[in-house]
Amino acid sequence: MIASDKTMSYINDLPARLLDSPLDFIYADHLRQRVVAQLLHKVAEGRGSQEEIENLRQYLSHNFALHIADEEHGLFPLLRERCTQEDNIEKLLDRLGRDHKGDESMNDHVLKDLSQAVSGGELDDETQKRLHKFADHIKQHLVLENGVLLPIARVRLEEADLRNLSKNLRRRRAL
Ligand SMILES: [Fe+2]
Ligand SMILES: [Fe+2]
Repeated sequence: MIASDKTMSYINDLPARLLDSPLDFIYADHLRQRVVAQLLHKVAEGRGSQEEIENLRQYLSHNFALHIADEEHGLFPLLRERCTQEDNIEKLLDRLGRDHKGDESMNDHVLKDLSQAVSGGELDDETQKRLHKFADHIKQHLVLENGVLLPIARVRLEEADLRNLSKNLRRRRAL
């Protein structure tokens, strides 16, 4: 299916040149996570193709952890340095950090679920709930990061910070 192929290449590849604009890169990663969440719901409902299941596994076993590290070790430390008190950034970063820990433990379970899922196969209730819950968790986190975190970063980070963040993201990908 053409639409499915487009979705798949979309969630597993981002153009490397976007790394020159690291906040746009992170935002693009958020857009693909929105697709990931939709696919998780779809698989939970037994409507996911084998290819979609496989591509979800690829994204969640590789790119997802990279993204969390981009934020935890790249973006967050820069924000701690640059934000002012009125930004109340510590509270936000604490909340997002807790979400990341939750993501990591849910992701381990979901990866196991996906390795056993087959196209059109019935999933037990517990597995369905877990996939829906993970998708909802991802979507809620995106609302905070796109609506609050990235707008603050766009205001507070300076040119040199953005260059450093770009290097940080490239290093993580050996680019
Ligand atoms: Fe994020
Ligand atoms: Fe995050």
